[in-house]
Amino acid sequence: MIQTEQPDAVSRLPLPDKVATEHSQRVKQCVLDKIAATGRLPFTDYMQTVLYEPGLGYYSAGSTKLGAKGDFITAPEISALFSQSLAQAIVPALAAIDHTCLLEVGAGSGKMAADILAQLDILNSLPERYCILELSADLRLRQQQCLKEKVPALYDRVQWLDELPAQLHAVVIANELLDAMPVVRFKKERQGISLEYVVANSTELQSAFIQDESNVLYQRTRARITQMEANGLLFETGYLSEINFNAEDWLSSVADKLQQGMIILIDYGYPQHEYYHAERNAGTLNCFYRHRQHGNPFIYPGLQDLTAHINFTALADCAIENKLTVDGYTSQSNFLLGAGIASLAEAAAADYIEQNNIAAQMELANQVKKLTMPYEMGELVKVIGFSKNCNARLDAFHFKDMRDHL
Ligand SMILES: C[S@@+](CC[C@H](N)C(=O)[O-])C[C@H]1O[C@@H](n2cnc3c(N)ncnc32)[C@H](O)[C@@H]1O
Repeated sequence: MIQTEQPDAVSRLPLPDKVATEHSQRVKQCVLDKIAATGRLPFTDYMQTVLYEPGLGYYSAGSTKLGAKGDFITAPEISALFSQSLAQAIVPALAAIDHTCLLEVGAGSGKMAADILAQLDILNSLPERYCILELSADLRLRQQQCLKEKVPALYDRVQWLDELPAQLHAVVIANELLDAMPVVRFKKERQGISLEYVVANSTELQSAFIQDESNVLYQRTRARITQMEANGLLFETGYLSEINFNAEDWLSSVADKLQQGMIILIDYGYPQHEYYHAERNAGTLNCFYRHRQHGNPFIYPGLQDLTAHINFTALADCAIENKLTVDGYTSQSNFLLGAGIASLAEAAAADYIEQNNIAAQMELANQVKKLTMPYEMGELVKVIGFSKNCNARLDAFHFKDMRDHL
């Protein structure tokens, strides 16, 4: 998601229309009902509800979400060059596995799937199956429409899965999947830590930081912070941040099922020492509504996206614990350059030059800038690759190997 927070962003958010406001009230009521049952909702459960509650949550209900008419824009929506480069990058991995299956998890609008399939077709490297695992029933329908429209001849190769297969031989890809998973929010207290909960003040939602040592999530969070402190990280009193255990649990389950293949994950994030830098003392949680970025997760429940950056060191540690090899870690910019985005852009530009289409040439240049410039997505987004029983070497990771940053 590409945006920068504007000053006074919350007070300048556009107002939702009547239908959206009523929908948001139903989502809020669902949260209030859950709070009524237990007195408080861990922040991670709040995030799960407002994003994924069937029929209600941001990703589960019918709003536009991605693209110019939605709330945020992702790399595959910015330009087909992103997915075409990714397709080129993974060809050696597809060639190295039996009965090729490319599995995309969290496929959004389906545009990345369509552009990847089209590019792999050009490269004569189509997988036997392109599988999609998507949590949102609404997005699954949109993906089906998009793929039917954009790559009708390849549609038969696409399959939607309801869960991860028990045994997986595949190249698994996901763009901005992990940053859409619910996180735990913690605060460093004078003594120990507290976790963020959502509580109700009459009918308003607000946060409360609570030290509940009997809670399993609390114990898991405290153990992780103790471990990070033992490794030299220092959390000042009042320091607030996130841990994405869901991303780690998801990776563990993929690793458990993966017999042979690669996993390539693309997301906003940092290595651990940068993630928990002393100056990043309010965490990385971001809220997006109609392309405005702000920090209040309680505004318009169900209408805005909530996201938190990824700690890539934690992900790599989890991969190693689960017997995966860390094949690469680099910035989106390096990955795309290593995958050949420059020549793909040149080829597209050559067509526009021949057509004397100056507007299209400028638009293309703009897209490359957004994907690769450090102050846009180029350095903020990282790509990490894991493998099991797969000896493929992906040049895109070796353009500038940053594994030593983890
Ligand atoms: C931020 S969107 C990114 C969409 C798309 N990959 C893109 O880059 O445009 C996150 C996507 O992940 C899906 N998602 C979140 N958690 C998931 C899970 N555990 N399994 C499958 N899909 C999931 C969401 O429904 C949504 O499609």
